[in-house]
Amino acid sequence: MNLDTWINHFARNGKNRPEPNWNAPHQPIAPNAHAALLSSLQQFELGDGGGPAYLIGRDLPNYFEDHPDMKQLVDLWFTEEERHSQLLGKAVKRFGGKSIEGHWSFSVFCNVRKFLGVKFELYALLLTEITSNNYYKLLRKYAPDEAIKGMCDLIIRDETGHINFHRDRIASRMDGDYRLGVFWATKMHVLAFLAGTMLWINHRKALVSLGASTREFYNGFRDETARFVNVTRKRREKLDAKQQLAPSDKNINEVV
Ligand SMILES: [Fe+2]
Ligand SMILES: [Fe+2]
Repeated sequence: MNLDTWINHFARNGKNRPEPNWNAPHQPIAPNAHAALLSSLQQFELGDGGGPAYLIGRDLPNYFEDHPDMKQLVDLWFTEEERHSQLLGKAVKRFGGKSIEGHWSFSVFCNVRKFLGVKFELYALLLTEITSNNYYKLLRKYAPDEAIKGMCDLIIRDETGHINFHRDRIASRMDGDYRLGVFWATKMHVLAFLAGTMLWINHRKALVSLGASTREFYNGFRDETARFVNVTRKRREKLDAKQQLAPSDKNINEVV
């Protein structure tokens, strides 16, 4: 993986971040939709860059020892996540609510991440990003609010970068040297389905009350997962082909 490419990406992405128009006039919204949206935003403020806002797997020191280059990228990645929480906090305020300190689903998520370690955690976060990106896309489509749409634009832009960062990490074998075959693809779809269903249980009320449908939600993250799987495989093939073309230390002086 080209680390400089990603360091430059995060540096570039940190600039040119147009703040959503938090003073935009409020559009009428039904009381039940308002309450459901507020609850959803409060949970996302905590879950998307709130709380520890870092890798928390219990083997993190070992992981950084094995992958020293990742430390800087992980720092940059989570700096963006913290910004998401700040944006969501402003959205919560705009809708007349207060930030929440905890939620059962977030506590379960953090405990599982801690216990199962960084490699699991990176996959769990990737799947959360794929399914959350789908949530933000639907929120941008259906929320009758200019500020929320502006917030979603920024977060979707960042999350798309994060998903691509994981794609490069996995394709370049930084995550381990395993095949991206049918088993891996099936596992990705099953885990994405579980992650998406968890998200849907907590946020269905908000999205449905704004006009989204269950089918739209499930189709959305299924397509995002399929895209991720395909592009990651292609990236791996490309990297492998490049490696085969480059002369290795072993054969560079070989007499042909
Ligand atoms: Fe995020
Ligand atoms: Fe992210």
